[in-house]
Amino acid sequence: MEVVIVQDAKAGGELIAEAIADLLRRKPDALLGVATGSTPLPVYDALTAKVRAGAVDVSRARIAQLDEYVGLPAGHPESYRSTVLRQVVEPLGLSPDAFLGPDGTAEDVQAACEAYDRALAEAGGVDLQILGIGTDGHIGFNEPCSSLASRTRIKTLTEQTRIDNARFFDGDIDQVPHHVITQGIGTILEARHLVLLATGEGKADAVAATVEGPVAALVPASALQLHPHATVVVDEAAASKLKLADYFRHTYANKPSWQGL
Ligand code: F6R
Repeated sequence: MEVVIVQDAKAGGELIAEAIADLLRRKPDALLGVATGSTPLPVYDALTAKVRAGAVDVSRARIAQLDEYVGLPAGHPESYRSTVLRQVVEPLGLSPDAFLGPDGTAEDVQAACEAYDRALAEAGGVDLQILGIGTDGHIGFNEPCSSLASRTRIKTLTEQTRIDNARFFDGDIDQVPHHVITQGIGTILEARHLVLLATGEGKADAVAATVEGPVAALVPASALQLHPHATVVVDEAAASKLKLADYFRHTYANKPSWQGL
């Protein structure tokens, strides 16, 4: 696992957007896995700026959703499908056909989960998966004690996650669904490159447990330690509880430039 400490969220967004641009220069039809929430927005902004500046061609890129609320009506502005269309697909000028996601409105949720795992595999697998992290260490919506081998399935959100996400629902926790479909941890680990971005002091404990704690289902993001190509990008505030912060800074500062992220 590589840990890169950046000054702030904007620098993290720029660094990850450049890694995505590099990937698309090598593989123009790459499948990019996207997280929602506040953290990855600087990545999408920086990537959109590169596209508008002509620095990268994303016209053949494909986008895959990480998770979805269950039970929001189709087209609800806070469904993750609507969110990804608004924040990623439209700004990048991609067609909605280039977009894969689980069906949070399906009557047979289990079948929808299995269909999504199949669709990801048939699309050749995710090349680069962007991840955020919950204050409780979740990735996607794999809450603490999710199986590290889990596949895409329905999960019940913790009260803390519903409180954290109420800000997207006019601050009203009653509007936040209790259930979600999320790629499982086993599914996420199949992506070729995992890039987790964490910013702000509120993520410092979760980041320290992810990077320096044991691999444990209690901290779902710690499963990144099992992946051969995982990059954790953190700002100074999110890095503030890392014991090895100086080591990570030294290693990154001396990294051969050809290696990229
Ligand atoms: C949502 C997702 C979640 C978020 C996490 C952090 O698609 O994957 O794991 O990344 O809840 O959310 P923010 O970035 O809003 O703090």
